[in-house]
Amino acid sequence: MWGRDHGPLLRYDSPPMYVLGIETSCDETGVALYSTESGLVADVLHSQVDLHAMYGGVVPEIASRDHIRCLLPLIGQVLQQAGIERPDAIAYTAGPGLVGALMVGSGMANGLGLAWGCPVIPVHHMEGHLLAPMLEDDAPEYPFLALLVSGGHTMLIAVRGLGDYDVLGTTLDDAVGEAFDKSAKLLGLGYPGGPALAALAETGNENAFDLPRPMLNRPGFDFSFSGLKTAVMLVVRKANDDGTIDSSRADIAASFQRAAVDTLVGRALQAAKSEDLKRIVVAGGVGANRLLRKEMVERFDGEVFYPRMAFCTDNGAMIAVAGALRIADANDAAEIRAQARWSLDTLSPPGTAQSDSNEE
Ligand code: KG4
Ligand code: ZN
Repeated sequence: MWGRDHGPLLRYDSPPMYVLGIETSCDETGVALYSTESGLVADVLHSQVDLHAMYGGVVPEIASRDHIRCLLPLIGQVLQQAGIERPDAIAYTAGPGLVGALMVGSGMANGLGLAWGCPVIPVHHMEGHLLAPMLEDDAPEYPFLALLVSGGHTMLIAVRGLGDYDVLGTTLDDAVGEAFDKSAKLLGLGYPGGPALAALAETGNENAFDLPRPMLNRPGFDFSFSGLKTAVMLVVRKANDDGTIDSSRADIAASFQRAAVDTLVGRALQAAKSEDLKRIVVAGGVGANRLLRKEMVERFDGEVFYPRMAFCTDNGAMIAVAGALRIADANDAAEIRAQARWSLDTLSPPGTAQSDSNEE
């Protein structure tokens, strides 16, 4: 058995190895090197935010081209930082995400795998987010409830073991990160709006506007954020008409953030209680939200785990650690996988066959 003594999760059945992680599913090029013996060795990130900002959202073709431009230099940088010539295995995000962007990471991982004669490991992006807390010293033990909140997903998952996932609830329409981004856009905060809206909210009154907490009183664990987004749109429209928008922008941001966080925390607490889970992991880009982090810790009668802020949003480190844990799924570098859609509950434990039924 190898690995740091970080609880039962980080144990490896293979000899110590360096796993290179490559993340290119959207608008960040992330590369990291993870050692199954000593943990995270190097981690670099190139954000494309400036390239997409003028368009108000991610432009897929621009994303793919920039991944092509940046990926190889970033890999070189990571290997140089670590002082090694090549890794023992390469993990890459195989989906879900923008298919062109995924193809860049997948093609590079498989090309380098062939050149270096090392195995490659396709990783599910959301499993990467879910396992990001395993990079921390206080990694959670199984089982736990995962609240995965990003620009594309809002999910509650009962995680009973690695690859043993029961999706309890998901969003019926917009993801919560999308609701943050769209509300920020309505407030004129630009792209990407989530962090900007959260910063503005710190200066506002969260009780100024009574916005809906969608679905909280319905059975089940699904989410819906389009009604909240519409409510924000109506409040903004009225403030524009009244000429009060400048003085009420921070209050609207704070009221929206409070409604979104109440909804996420309320739903997570309901799910944890129903499944009798004593640990909650919050991961994904919206997991960087300070109010969400604070509220979950205050309101949950159990342990709450988060990745550090930098590993909430997309990064190569979470893909490297997920690859290290899934080393049993490594294949010879010949199969380039890039799946725009890939349901998390089709995954299975490492070393067992995985279903690609949602492949597109
Ligand atoms: O996980 P991520 O980096 O990319 C996806 O896989 O989607 O998540 C990005 C999302 C964006 O919607 C962004 O606005 C949101 O996470 N986000 C935040 C914060 N930081 C990032 N939302 C609220 N508060 C934040 N501090
Ligand atoms: Zn993500």
